[in-house]
Amino acid sequence: MAESPQVSAHPVVKLIPNGPEIPPLGVGTWSWGDSLFWQYGKDYGASDVQRAFQVSLAAGITFFDTAEVYGLGKSEELLGQFIQATETPVMVATKYFPLPWRFKPQAVADALTASLKRLQLPTVALYQVHWPFDFLMGQKALMNALADEVKQGRIQSIGVSNYSASQMHQAHGYLAERGIPLVVNQVQYSLLHRKIESNGVLSTARDLGMTILAYSPLAQGLVTGKYRVETYQTPAGARRLDPRFSKDGLRKIEPLINVLREIGKGHDKTPAQVALNWLIGQGNVVPIPGAKNAQQAEQNAGALGWSLTSDERQQISEVSAAWR
Ligand SMILES: NC(=O)c1ccc[n+]([C@@H]2O[C@H](COP(=O)([O-])OP(=O)(O)OC[C@H]3O[C@@H](n4cnc5c(N)ncnc54)[C@H](OP(=O)(O)O)[C@@H]3O)[C@@H](O)[C@H]2O)c1
Repeated sequence: MAESPQVSAHPVVKLIPNGPEIPPLGVGTWSWGDSLFWQYGKDYGASDVQRAFQVSLAAGITFFDTAEVYGLGKSEELLGQFIQATETPVMVATKYFPLPWRFKPQAVADALTASLKRLQLPTVALYQVHWPFDFLMGQKALMNALADEVKQGRIQSIGVSNYSASQMHQAHGYLAERGIPLVVNQVQYSLLHRKIESNGVLSTARDLGMTILAYSPLAQGLVTGKYRVETYQTPAGARRLDPRFSKDGLRKIEPLINVLREIGKGHDKTPAQVALNWLIGQGNVVPIPGAKNAQQAEQNAGALGWSLTSDERQQISEVSAAWR
């Protein structure tokens, strides 16, 4: 269903107190410039991802997630170029990777300086710690270094990624000592990966007033229904090694795809749009699906502006219960 709804920015979270709110859906840009996992430069290139960017903005989706490690900086660089070429205000979330040799707080400042340079921005809406690795810089020193950057104005809010419930509490506590909220935990969350519903992460986010940014919300393309046993095609890039993309793996997800397709028919929506709408309906969850081209961006934007009924949500929850 290729449509491009004009989304009024349904507010979900204020990344900055009294500041702009992010729309209930973002765009993930890992595949923009990455050829280690994805096939950037082979199957698609800069003009494809720029069209994905433009189509998303036209649909009111102005929130983009990137990281210093995506494409070894290329993703931030491309995003920076695209932002320069538009008048529309864009909100960027990027990430700091806690590498073992980054043991001084100054490493945070240096990494952020490099990210801002690639993005050609003076500040980002959200800066996230990519993984909860504690090498020689402990969480307290890390959170303090991030808090310093909020005070400087180079980041407007702080998030974490791949943190457990107890790690969220700890980071939240350290930032609270500085009077700064922890606004986001970015974690894997899709109908084929519902672990955060049972491991305490989703409920902790609710208790602490945080938003979950759901990464790989399409299970890297699986829930779109385009990878099928009958018309088997090996996925591009590193996913060919993922058993979920094998014929056996695809057979296991058929019941879910059938339900998504059937429910989608009633709303004139695709399985991808239904799957994203289900995640958005969880409440404090903002999915950030990756889009490599205009068509994918346009389709993903069609997850907004309508709602599944509670019966439909229930049916989808039941058929995907095995992945909780
Ligand atoms: N914090 C972390 O540790 C972490 C980890 C992973 C991802 N992320 C973030 O989350 C974002 C999204 O995750 P992801 O890219 O892993 O997975 P995803 O969003 O679940 O899947 C993206 C892939 O699905 C396919 N696709 C997307 N929209 C489609 C559509 N409408 N129809 C058909 N196929 C479609 C595309 O691949 P094909 O066309 O090749 O099938 C696309 O690259 C990333 O870009 C990144 O920003 C964060």
